[in-house]
Amino acid sequence: MTEQPTPLFSRPWVRMGLLAAGAALATVLVMSLYANISTRKAEGRQTSLKVVDLDEKTVDPAIWGKNFPSQFDAYKRTAEKYSTKYGGAGSEGLPKSRIQEDPRLVTIFDGYAFAIDFNQRQGHAYMLDDQRTTKRVTTKPQTGACLHCHASNTVAYREAGLQKGAPGSLDEAFTSPNAQAQLMAGFEAIGKLTYVEATKLVKHPVACIDCHDPKNMALRVTKPGFIRGIVALARSGEPVPHLPSIEKWRKGDKATPYDANRDASRQELRSMVCGQCHVEYYCGPKTTLFFPWDKGLKVEQIEATYDAYTFPDGGRFFDWKHARTGAEALKAQHPEFELWSQGVHARSGVSCADCHMPYKREGAIKISEHQVRSPLLDISRACQTCHRFPEEELKARVVAIQDRTKALMDRAEDAVVDLINNLEAAKKAGVEEARLKPILELQRKAQWRVDFVNAENSMGFHAPQEAARILGEAIDFGRQGQIALRDLGAGKAAKK
Ligand code: HEC
Ligand code: HEC
Ligand code: HEC
Ligand code: HEC
Ligand code: HEC
Repeated sequence: MTEQPTPLFSRPWVRMGLLAAGAALATVLVMSLYANISTRKAEGRQTSLKVVDLDEKTVDPAIWGKNFPSQFDAYKRTAEKYSTKYGGAGSEGLPKSRIQEDPRLVTIFDGYAFAIDFNQRQGHAYMLDDQRTTKRVTTKPQTGACLHCHASNTVAYREAGLQKGAPGSLDEAFTSPNAQAQLMAGFEAIGKLTYVEATKLVKHPVACIDCHDPKNMALRVTKPGFIRGIVALARSGEPVPHLPSIEKWRKGDKATPYDANRDASRQELRSMVCGQCHVEYYCGPKTTLFFPWDKGLKVEQIEATYDAYTFPDGGRFFDWKHARTGAEALKAQHPEFELWSQGVHARSGVSCADCHMPYKREGAIKISEHQVRSPLLDISRACQTCHRFPEEELKARVVAIQDRTKALMDRAEDAVVDLINNLEAAKKAGVEEARLKPILELQRKAQWRVDFVNAENSMGFHAPQEAARILGEAIDFGRQGQIALRDLGAGKAAKK
């Protein structure tokens, strides 16, 4: 007896399967058609506006704005002033001087340009004008290196590099070896000019080309100080769990240096583009501008980098000699990238752009807020995507962190001012220079720490525990200095 097999396609389970597969296939087709239509729609909205061709020579953001009007409009709105309890430039009526607001700073920075003029930051639209007009520039000679973070200079550097004999042309892609050689040569050359000469070479504050590839709008870093600084950080071996691409590079053969534009993830670049400027740096006449990241990003690691550094003239690293005590002091500048690096947000993969450039919906597409400002003005988009607390509650948490930081910072500034006053008195009383030396070092350490938190612009929010740790150390070093003076008998001598 032969059993006639049922034809394959009439077997019930096969038929069911086919039906299901057919339905699935149809769904997939419809879905992909839909996806196709909607991306087309979104692309259409973006590319139908592609009215101009952008290339590596297009500096003027208004030209980029023809293709991307929404981002350009928001970018222009960085000219709007605002104030929060600790952020922004304040309202136009109020004094915006950080020295008038806190006279202790005049004592702490005595002998340095910051004691003359030190203002609240404001929006990106002002960065070039504010630098051109600050008394720190108009009454003191400064170098072209100041422009590194206050202008769109991606093209100016390359042009200057070409003039210095770097190979290739401006048409080459930014990441090509020739373009990189142009960039670095121009950066060195412009940094050596006087500020007055150098500033004639730039026209715009930070612009689209400094953060974006003109061909595909991908994020990129273009500032030489950052490109070199992040290479040094990668080489340091100091753990940076919040920057996984560096950890990955370290595990590789290290044949070529770490390159953010090749190695970093998009999420890392969403912080790195800001880290091009919102960082501690050396910028002065003695050597080329650099970011002090050779030993890591923490306050004492940066201090150790400076302590180990000697200038080309053989001298020890310091920013200025304190006018009253003679201490060789360090000035901290806006270490946002460094402090953020120590916080729970960085550790959880939250980038600067997540909070300061949150997504907003425009029609069918999501775009990034290019009006870079305080996230407290936009808590729903900046924070509530992750935190399900009411706006008022989130704001209260931020302000609580800031108030606590401020209270501790006040105590730390008091400690530094007291030490300065005691040191000055001891000098006047004739205590020998050699005996004061270790105490001047304590002034350097205490001041560097209090300044690190003061110059950082989030009033502790970017890493609350780290800020408190730093301020605790500042108070300790300041008071240790006073005790050491007392042990010398200098306190008594001073009172006479
Ligand atoms: C989790 C969200 C968050 C992240 C991530 C974050 N910030 Fe902030 N940032 C804040 C908040 C909140 C403030 C305080 C704003 C205020 O006081 O108005 C602030 C303040 C600032 C300020 C001063 C703003 C002002 O209005 O004066 C700057 C500059 C800044 N951040 C830069 C950065 C940079 C650069 C990074 C990345 C390295 C970063 N922030 C990462 C939330 C964040
Ligand atoms: C080219 C350097 C540069 C880059 C890149 C840069 N900033 Fe700034 N930023 C500045 C300068 C300079 C100022 C202060 C301008 C002034 O006060 O005139 C500033 C001011 C700010 C302020 C204060 C705004 C206000 O209105 O008070 C915030 C917030 C800020 N930046 C966040 C960021 C974030 C976030 C990024 C990355 C997406 C970023 N910045 C990238 C240089 C830069
Ligand atoms: C590594 C990047 C970088 C370099 C180099 C740099 N700045 Fe800035 N500057 C910033 C950032 C970021 C801010 C905004 C944050 C703040 O005000 O703390 C700022 C703010 C300022 C401001 C406005 C607030 C204030 O302090 O009064 C002035 C003026 C200024 N810089 C002048 C200078 C001068 C002069 C130089 C050269 C000695 C210089 N900058 C070099 C990044 C830089
Ligand atoms: C300080 C750096 C910075 C500058 C300057 C800047 N952008 Fe962006 N831009 C960003 C970041 C960060 C994103 C988010 C990118 C991402 O997540 O991939 C972005 C995203 C974009 C996108 C992709 C769509 C979107 O909105 O997310 C466009 C288009 C864009 N920017 C246009 C511009 C234009 C035009 C200018 C100049 C007027 C400009 N950008 C200036 C940092 C910058
Ligand atoms: C992309 C997600 C994300 C965004 C955006 C974000 N946070 Fe967070 N936040 C976290 C994570 C993750 C933690 C770690 C604690 C946890 O796991 O809940 C955290 C912790 C905190 C903490 C407690 C830790 C600390 O630093 O003391 C505060 C306060 C906070 N966030 C406030 C804010 C505010 C305010 C904003 C907006 C300016 C914001 N966050 C934006 C993810 C986010």
